[in-house]
Amino acid sequence: MSVLVRFGVSLEGRLLDKFDRLIRKRGYATRSEALRDLIRQELVKKEWEEDQEVAGTITFIYDHHRRGLSSRLTDLQHDHQEIIISTQHIHLDHHNCLEIVAVQGRASGVQKLANALRSVKGVRHGALSMTSTGKSIE
Ligand code: NI
Repeated sequence: MSVLVRFGVSLEGRLLDKFDRLIRKRGYATRSEALRDLIRQELVKKEWEEDQEVAGTITFIYDHHRRGLSSRLTDLQHDHQEIIISTQHIHLDHHNCLEIVAVQGRASGVQKLANALRSVKGVRHGALSMTSTGKSIE
């Protein structure tokens, strides 16, 4: 773990009031904790923008009764084994399945896979959660 450094920040009172209201609403115990999170958020954003090694989850729902859809989605995942860490399948109800695909790899590859899965006909909704491998935000 790296050494803790203290530094002063100057900003307008009104802006600080807004910041305090925001972090209270989000449940942060201190300004320092909120600031650390904001910095890490920007660093993770940069990892994705610069096509670095990232991690995340691709989540989508679909109707498993639709002909050929389940096997199309499975085929796509078999074609991207180098990116996919694991897949969780949940039978939501009689029609709907929820799949959570954990991924790690180059940002562009992960985004490409997310787009491919989301755009398969019959996938009702899909979302990519972009996070980090954690290595560059310690
Ligand atoms: Ni299912």
